[in-house]
Amino acid sequence: MYISSLTLVLSMCSNLVKGSIYQNGQLRITNYPNTKVNRSTYDFQTYDADAAELSYKGRWDSNKVSFWSAAGLVFGFTGDTVAITFGGATIDTTLIGYRISGMDWNFTNVTSGATHMLVTPETLGVDQPDPFNPQRFELRVSNWGYGVQIDKVHVAAGQSLIKIPNFNRTIEFIGDSLSSGMYTSYESMSGFAYGVGAGLGDTEYYITAYPGICVTDQDCWGNPRGQVHQWFYTTDTSWRGTKLWGNNPEPWDFSKQETTPDLVVINLGTNDNNSANNVTTSDFINAYTKLIQGVHGKYPKAQVVVMQLWIGFYQNGNSFSQNLGYEQELQDIVAYFNSPEYLSAPQIWDGTTNTTTTLDSPSESFVHYFSTKGILQHNDIGPQWHPTDVGAIKVAAHLIQYIRLKFGWDMVATGPE
Ligand SMILES: *[C@@H]1O[C@H](CO)[C@@H](O)[C@H](O)[C@H]1NC(C)=O
Ligand SMILES: *[C@@H]1O[C@H](CO)[C@@H](O)[C@H](O)[C@H]1NC(C)=O
Ligand SMILES: *[C@@H]1O[C@H](CO)[C@@H](O)[C@H](O)[C@H]1NC(C)=O
Ligand SMILES: *[C@@H]1O[C@H](CO)[C@@H](O)[C@H](O)[C@H]1NC(C)=O
Ligand SMILES: *[C@@H]1O[C@H](CO)[C@@H](O)[C@H](O)[C@H]1NC(C)=O
Ligand SMILES: *[C@@H]1O[C@H](CO)[C@@H](O)[C@H](O)[C@H]1NC(C)=O
Ligand SMILES: *[C@@H]1O[C@H](CO)[C@@H](O)[C@H](O)[C@H]1NC(C)=O
Repeated sequence: MYISSLTLVLSMCSNLVKGSIYQNGQLRITNYPNTKVNRSTYDFQTYDADAAELSYKGRWDSNKVSFWSAAGLVFGFTGDTVAITFGGATIDTTLIGYRISGMDWNFTNVTSGATHMLVTPETLGVDQPDPFNPQRFELRVSNWGYGVQIDKVHVAAGQSLIKIPNFNRTIEFIGDSLSSGMYTSYESMSGFAYGVGAGLGDTEYYITAYPGICVTDQDCWGNPRGQVHQWFYTTDTSWRGTKLWGNNPEPWDFSKQETTPDLVVINLGTNDNNSANNVTTSDFINAYTKLIQGVHGKYPKAQVVVMQLWIGFYQNGNSFSQNLGYEQELQDIVAYFNSPEYLSAPQIWDGTTNTTTTLDSPSESFVHYFSTKGILQHNDIGPQWHPTDVGAIKVAAHLIQYIRLKFGWDMVATGPE
């Protein structure tokens, strides 16, 4: 026993020297394959970015530029070849994850204006299509601050794209860096929001989250607007949004979304609760309340989950304790939305005017509180104040169980990564 654990320690040391990362006992690949090809040397069947067979997940603007976190593109295809030409609004070197059907994610850095070959006859599983369903291609943008623009999608000559039906349940996350997966290994694709969305299986998931953002509509860590405003827009608060749309960002067309969320999980307030941003408690409560009124207006049938904040841990004598932010305030907001006063005359907000509208008919209770107490311990938070990969997975695993027990959503993923 002693010898084998020593060997393990030594081999871990030599791996550290080489800079390798082990993930679940497997070497994590960080030298991503270079997939750039010379488009004119291939005979492709080419589709435009607005082809009806393409399903855009999350928020993409009308020029097919991705925003927010883990924006995705899904389509079915025949044959064994898929290439994508990225448009000029792509940020060079943006890391994307991509895969076919239930096979593992692969990653590649994409180049503005270039064509990348993402599925070839050598891609694992491409030669073994499910006889009843087309091969499904999926792409996700790993980083919130970067983005890609889809210009063309190519398959082999004589082959075609196929529209893939949407999954019949949808979850949307509205959040900040915690939901964006900031500082986790694959960024938005290792955060807790991704973990819940992908982990449930057969679920559409949209992560409308951007690091540093407050719910309150004011500057927080350089984000000019808060989620109470920005959630109604296609673009996030990055410089990319300003560069491409100036002072006239596109309002998000909720009616054109691939699916309407059944469940909205909000994790906001960590930045509002930071004294550097000078948010007052009453502004926070007003903004959070208005955001929920906005969600109820846009998605009248959606359930809303308010997440308890976890802020951080501090040494407390001979152990560690957790700081909570806006603890009572969040519970009061949830109680307000469950009060007879609200439910009998529910107010919704369209995000543009200053006044709310009262619905004609009463609402059923739709706002819930998810306590994060006991999920994270102090060492689940990395040196940069965000959950480690393990911390993100813990939050995701508990939230999935909460969703299963509370809303009856089965966990249907039984194999894929
Ligand atoms: C791409 O291929 C075409 C046709 O073979 C060739 O003319 C062109 O020089 C190539 N471009 C680059 C950048 O290699
Ligand atoms: C690929 O993307 C990752 C994540 O953003 C980045 O760390 C890496 O430097 C990029 N690689 C190249 C070759 O640009
Ligand atoms: C990722 O792509 C590379 C080269 O294209 C390939 O060798 C590797 O097997 C792929 N990995 C996965 C998980 O598909
Ligand atoms: C949703 O899809 C699952 C299979 O993925 C199916 O079992 C279920 O009946 C569907 N629900 C509805 C409401 O269509
Ligand atoms: C917050 O208030 C302090 C004191 O009034 C001021 O110095 C600081 O610039 C303010 N910060 C922001 C982000 O507005
Ligand atoms: C953070 O929230 C707590 C209440 O939970 C409150 O006492 C404190 O003043 C808040 N701090 C800031 C900077 O908003
Ligand atoms: C909303 O209120 C703000 C300040 O409270 C004001 O500047 C703005 O003009 C108002 N907008 C509308 C559409 O009434």
